[in-house]
Amino acid sequence: MKPAKVRATAAQILARLLRQQGSLASLLPRASDVAAQDQNQMSLLRELCFGTCRWYHKLNLELSSLIDKPLKNKDLDIHCLLLVGMYQLEHMRLADHAAVSETVNATVILKKGWAKSLVNGVLRQYQRKRASTDHGNIDPTVTTALTYADWLVDAIRTDWPQQSDQILSAGNQHPPMTLRVNLARVSRAAYLDQLAIEGIEATPGNLAESAIYLTQGRAVNTLPGFSDALVSVQDEASQLIPGLLAAGGGQRILDACAAPGGKTCHVLETLARHGDAPHTMLALDIEARRLGRIEENLQRLMLASPAVHLQAADSSEPASWWDATPFDRILLDAPCSATGIIRRQPDIKVLRQADDVSRLAALQHKLLASLWPCLAPGGMMLYSTCSVLRDENDRQIMRFLEETADAEEIPINAGWGVSTGAGRQLLPTDQGPDGFYFAVLRKNPS
Ligand SMILES: C[S@@+](CC[C@H](N)C(=O)[O-])C[C@H]1O[C@@H](n2cnc3c(N)ncnc32)[C@H](O)[C@@H]1O
Repeated sequence: MKPAKVRATAAQILARLLRQQGSLASLLPRASDVAAQDQNQMSLLRELCFGTCRWYHKLNLELSSLIDKPLKNKDLDIHCLLLVGMYQLEHMRLADHAAVSETVNATVILKKGWAKSLVNGVLRQYQRKRASTDHGNIDPTVTTALTYADWLVDAIRTDWPQQSDQILSAGNQHPPMTLRVNLARVSRAAYLDQLAIEGIEATPGNLAESAIYLTQGRAVNTLPGFSDALVSVQDEASQLIPGLLAAGGGQRILDACAAPGGKTCHVLETLARHGDAPHTMLALDIEARRLGRIEENLQRLMLASPAVHLQAADSSEPASWWDATPFDRILLDAPCSATGIIRRQPDIKVLRQADDVSRLAALQHKLLASLWPCLAPGGMMLYSTCSVLRDENDRQIMRFLEETADAEEIPINAGWGVSTGAGRQLLPTDQGPDGFYFAVLRKNPS
């Protein structure tokens, strides 16, 4: 792919995001077919897409002051190309003239040669404006807030008045690459030694005993033991799940929202570490095509067994999949706004709309209420989200506890996170774990 084509492809991907026609996770792999021959161009494409999303709201605001009137909807690709050009000038270590000329050339690839002078003019104006701005006078917390939609800044400031600056700042960082060591096969200390032998710099996590932070990200298949089931990639926050679920051998376990299977596998690894296996592990997901990812992970980690079942199903409709045998443990890792993992998925800043939160909260409530009857008396449900918004977290659980006579909260006494009205919240930090919420609920025998 030529450099101008990379810019044009980035603009097309961003335009599709803005039209809600996919996410970076779904659109970038398709583009990778085009760039398959050239890893450098693929890295550049990723950087342009991730970076422009990370700074989208601020770049968009700045762009509006550089053009007389908004571009027509049919020229959304040119609008996005301008943002991609501005991102390069502001945030990438490229020669300005190369960034401008390749971005201008991309108009031809988009078959919009008429926009050449527009793109050139706007980017030159942006360069001049940047050069004349006194960056030392700008409050960084104001700048950071400008990189988010106003509704999200308001929601985070309302829910976390003391911590909001830190949460917003963490969302703009490049995330660390975090590994989960398969403790059933190797100790963390032994795996750290393997990394050191390969010259890979790493440090142990502080919260989860399986977590390792790499100083520099790298391709997963270059990790020692990746194909021998020794290690997976997973943020440290979600590595706390097996400890909180406290599943035991011989139990019936339901993972109600399982794809791509990171937590299903971790729970199975944790049982195996203690020489145990579940009676049943049923992993459900509403998206049938995502079950393949769970299967792949189970195979790679050598965890597939007759006890493990995968099924495409709507967890909120147990009549369609449940055989009426109660589960001892239910993990409800609920679909959520993902506002705790924005640094990993900056397209959330572009995709998420204000009314998504109430829609997701309604779905979470429905999932909680429908799955509760599937839990055995004395059994435990672990509810988790990668959100920092309280409507999806402690407020959600407090409402559920009020409505559900036989539900009791088991407090999480831990040295990490913040104890909230119910459950425990980890807030994202710059180089630590993602933002994550957990609540443990026990069903009291009636
Ligand atoms: C946060 S992700 C789960 C991540 C997963 N637990 C892991 O660790 O890899 C939420 C998942 O819920 C699924 N989902 C959403 N609504 C659902 C429903 N009604 N029933 C079952 N799965 C659902 C989505 O397809 C998505 O895969």
